[in-house]
Amino acid sequence: MKRAITTSEDGSKTLLLEDYNESYHSRFGALSESRHIFAGEGLSRYLGDNPNTEELSIFEAGLGTGLNCLLTALEIEKFKSVKRVKYLAVEKYPITPEEASMLDYPSLFGNSKLAGYIYETIHSSNWGCNTPLSEKMELLKICSSFEQYFPAIPHESINIIYYDAFSPETQPELWQEEIFISLFRALKPGGVLVTYSSKGIVKRALRAVGFEVKRVAGPKGKKHILRASKA
Ligand SMILES: C[S@@+](CC[C@H](N)C(=O)[O-])C[C@H]1O[C@@H](n2cnc3c(N)ncnc32)[C@H](O)[C@@H]1O
Repeated sequence: MKRAITTSEDGSKTLLLEDYNESYHSRFGALSESRHIFAGEGLSRYLGDNPNTEELSIFEAGLGTGLNCLLTALEIEKFKSVKRVKYLAVEKYPITPEEASMLDYPSLFGNSKLAGYIYETIHSSNWGCNTPLSEKMELLKICSSFEQYFPAIPHESINIIYYDAFSPETQPELWQEEIFISLFRALKPGGVLVTYSSKGIVKRALRAVGFEVKRVAGPKGKKHILRASKA
């Protein structure tokens, strides 16, 4: 698949799948989207609702550029109660070291030493190995397809899911009940799944497998996103 680097409206870079005209992030802002949906409605809101959380397990469907992982590793430092974070991410089409370098995400965080180290480690770490990214957080990245890997996630092991597949128009097969059943099972009771798509078919599929689904305000360019919880 041919990928090109583009710059989104907030100045942060992203990747574009040229044949599908499908962007890895919102064209209105890669960083703004990641902050609002995944670090915001996912991580921060979950920890706001569960303030005594000490151990957290996050699963990202689609590691891609590593922006959500980097942002999470930096944001988690603000939550003193959290002592340990396991970040599990699946990706079938890893980006190249050249693409990671051109995206230059540490520059979004003032080129801090910590951001540089975390970003470098996200992309250079071995697939299938637990790798520390910071004192609190470790990454396990798996090179596999969602379809194969989701059923293998241990049941009730995850607190927060970042569901970041390509859009339902490009990958309709990844927004079906069969996919969400595995993710529902993987979540602990009280866990949440956040995603950028608020399409009717996505809401219906999530509800059909047992999620309680809420539409919440989206980032610029997106009226709503979805926050789905497991009671
Ligand atoms: C919308 S992009 C988001 C990527 C990432 N969250 C980021 O912030 O860069 C979707 C990601 O899912 C990956 N992907 C698409 N289909 C997949 C599949 N069937 N199995 C595993 N990964 C897949 C793509 O390669 C891409 O990295």
